[in-house]
Amino acid sequence: MLNGGIPVGRHVALYGGPGAGKTSFCFEYLYQGAKMGENGLYISLEETQEDIIENMKNSFTLFTDTSQLIAERKLEIVKPEKLNLEEVANLLEDRITSNNIKRAAIDSATMIRLSFSSEIEYRQTLFEFLSLLRNLDVTTITTVEASTAKRELMEYDIEHFVMDGIVNLYNLDREDRRVRALEIFKMRGTDHSRDLVPFKVTPSGIKVYVGEKVF
Ligand SMILES: Nc1ncnc2c1ncn2[C@@H]1O[C@H](COP(=O)(O)OP(=O)(O)OP(=O)(O)O)[C@@H](O)[C@H]1O
Ligand SMILES: [Mg+2]
Repeated sequence: MLNGGIPVGRHVALYGGPGAGKTSFCFEYLYQGAKMGENGLYISLEETQEDIIENMKNSFTLFTDTSQLIAERKLEIVKPEKLNLEEVANLLEDRITSNNIKRAAIDSATMIRLSFSSEIEYRQTLFEFLSLLRNLDVTTITTVEASTAKRELMEYDIEHFVMDGIVNLYNLDREDRRVRALEIFKMRGTDHSRDLVPFKVTPSGIKVYVGEKVF
């Protein structure tokens, strides 16, 4: 869908409602990178390292060797003490320098947003954060909690404009079930699919059914 993946050095927002698959998506992105020799850093602002490892290992057979990747420092999971972007930026810079981190995930921006008393302050800080990220040699995915699971009610937040790319994860309402679908909303630096494509969360990872219709 992206003609070869997220362009190197870009910063992507991953949107989705509760349980949409954001954490799994980020984790798999880092895991697959780590397996290919690109060290990954997971910055978790909600769950502890133990919780994430536990959840990922229980949900996915794919991630059975996670502990080994962590022991080899190919994968790092960190929960910062404070909920602010400066702390996240410092952490990123430090880990990139000392452990050659190539991929990072920040889960979630919404947690950071909540720590601001004003919207303007958040916007300013986010802009500053993005310009700092652009000076670092890293590709990132930041999750954003969508206030609605409904596609037609999706609002454009500040993150939609400042980020290089937007991937939306949906949990669409069907008569007697929910159907997962995703779309590439924008991706600077590459042509991309504009289709709404079904996906599944499976024990062997996230499977995207390109070319299939969402029913
Ligand atoms: N092995 C599996 N097979 C099928 N579905 C699974 C499997 N493991 C997890 N899931 C589904 O994935 C969902 C969790 O995904 P994930 O935690 O990545 O979502 P999230 O968007 O990060 O959620 P939150 O909003 O709580 O942070 C679960 O609610 C469950 O429906
Ligand atoms: Mg999550």
